[in-house]
Amino acid sequence: MTSLRIAVIGNGKMGKAVAALARERGHTIGTVVGHVENPAGRALTAERLKGIDIAIEFTRPDAVVANLERLIPLGIPTVTGTTGWTEALPNIELLVQREGGALLHAANFSVGVHLFFRAAKALAQCFRGRPEFAVTIHEEHHASKLDAPSGTALLLQQQLWQAEPGRRFPITSVRAGDAPGAHTLKYEAKHETVTLQHVSRSRDVFAAGALAAAEWLPGHHGVFTFEDMLFEGER
Ligand SMILES: NC(=O)c1ccc[n+]([C@@H]2O[C@H](COP(=O)([O-])OP(=O)(O)OC[C@H]3O[C@@H](n4cnc5c(N)ncnc54)[C@H](OP(=O)(O)O)[C@@H]3O)[C@@H](O)[C@H]2O)c1
Repeated sequence: MTSLRIAVIGNGKMGKAVAALARERGHTIGTVVGHVENPAGRALTAERLKGIDIAIEFTRPDAVVANLERLIPLGIPTVTGTTGWTEALPNIELLVQREGGALLHAANFSVGVHLFFRAAKALAQCFRGRPEFAVTIHEEHHASKLDAPSGTALLLQQQLWQAEPGRRFPITSVRAGDAPGAHTLKYEAKHETVTLQHVSRSRDVFAAGALAAAEWLPGHHGVFTFEDMLFEGER
């Protein structure tokens, strides 16, 4: 595996987890860009990012777009895990296309969650056309998570709509404590319940996925999701 020189954008819980794991895996952290020095992405200059192979961005919904608008024209391949900005994605896709850049974005970098999506879709196919079962998606995250519902719950909902178009898959959200994240799909009838659940026990699962994406992205051009990378052999 080639050792990468990584710029970590955002020095919060995920930025710190990514930097620690990257060092363990033999990569170099070339720079860490925090909030105060980076209003509207202004710290992301060619000079600051000289010699950087890839940027890994975990900030906030109100900061990510400005960061990408800086990183992409500078030709820095970028992996972002920030959630809550899907409405801006079409414009960012155009920018990546125009600049010939590389971006991989994912609301969830856990491999297990993407396999859970597949299992959930299969479960929804089994329950298709059975209105006696009420269905709900429930997600719980730590108190400091800003967006609700989670990007992962919204992705799960999209998968379920593919299995049973026209059905409502309502989402409930809880923000409390410090847990990294849990998603539950529940089918409930009068006397029985079927539950499928994914629980993240540590943020390291997301950091490992983001790093795997950072190792994969160089040499690719365009906009990719974590699923594109995980299931690339199947397409
Ligand atoms: N894709 C995944 O697998 C995954 C997993 C976990 C989390 N997430 C998402 O990733 C994002 C970060 O999560 P987190 O748990 O690390 O949150 P966090 O602990 O709040 O960290 C976010 C950091 O970004 C900083 N920041 C804000 N604006 C910035 C800017 N313009 N430039 C540089 N840094 C800036 C914040 O600084 P201040 O505190 O000073 O504002 C904070 O240190 C969230 O959107 C979360 O939903 C995704």
